[in-house]
Amino acid sequence: MKPILIFYASRDGQAERIAQTLAVHLNTWPVQLCDLKTPSAPTIPSAAIIVVASVRYGRHLPEAVQFFKQKTKQLAQTPLAIASVSLSARKGDGSPNGYLKKLIYQHQLSPFAALSIAGKLNYPHYGWLDKQIIRLIMRMTGGPSDGISCIEYTDWPQLTAFAQKITAHLRQDNADG
Ligand SMILES: Cc1cc2nc3c(=O)[nH]c(=O)nc-3n(C[C@H](O)[C@H](O)[C@H](O)COP(=O)(O)O)c2cc1C
Repeated sequence: MKPILIFYASRDGQAERIAQTLAVHLNTWPVQLCDLKTPSAPTIPSAAIIVVASVRYGRHLPEAVQFFKQKTKQLAQTPLAIASVSLSARKGDGSPNGYLKKLIYQHQLSPFAALSIAGKLNYPHYGWLDKQIIRLIMRMTGGPSDGISCIEYTDWPQLTAFAQKITAHLRQDNADG
């Protein structure tokens, strides 16, 4: 059985936590987790590739963007699912938001599942400049701009549904031969 490869790009740990939880949900398959910051991401044949990447300053983390640029061929030949992690996703229902739509469009991707999932707000963890920027983003989107809140917005049931979608797709793929 070919493994599912889960690649993640995370700075403060939430996208990593989401990738790890996804791996647990998909535990009926062999799963390999890989941090995109590590120099060589494996390119072994896989049943599916899942990318979990967080957004910073309006873009997905550079190692994720780099991955989509470099692995175009493999991504076109392997079932792909993407989970985009951001704070603005807390306002949505999981369907792709502007960040994710742009990523898909720019890299001409065809994921069978695409999720925009909320991350974590952690003011005490941010440096001064990042804190001011996040306060601005939160003020513009009606969230806490107090500079002290620590709130996990991640909708875990949304991730469970995403995992179920992946499993159903792979079962169908297997059944089709
Ligand atoms: C410096 C910084 C910039 C961010 N920029 C954005 C942004 O432009 N849009 C957004 O929706 N969320 C933004 N976020 C929120 C992150 O996407 C969110 O906190 C996510 O959980 C971070 O994932 P990570 O812990 O895996 O790094 C930003 C967070 C930080 C710290």
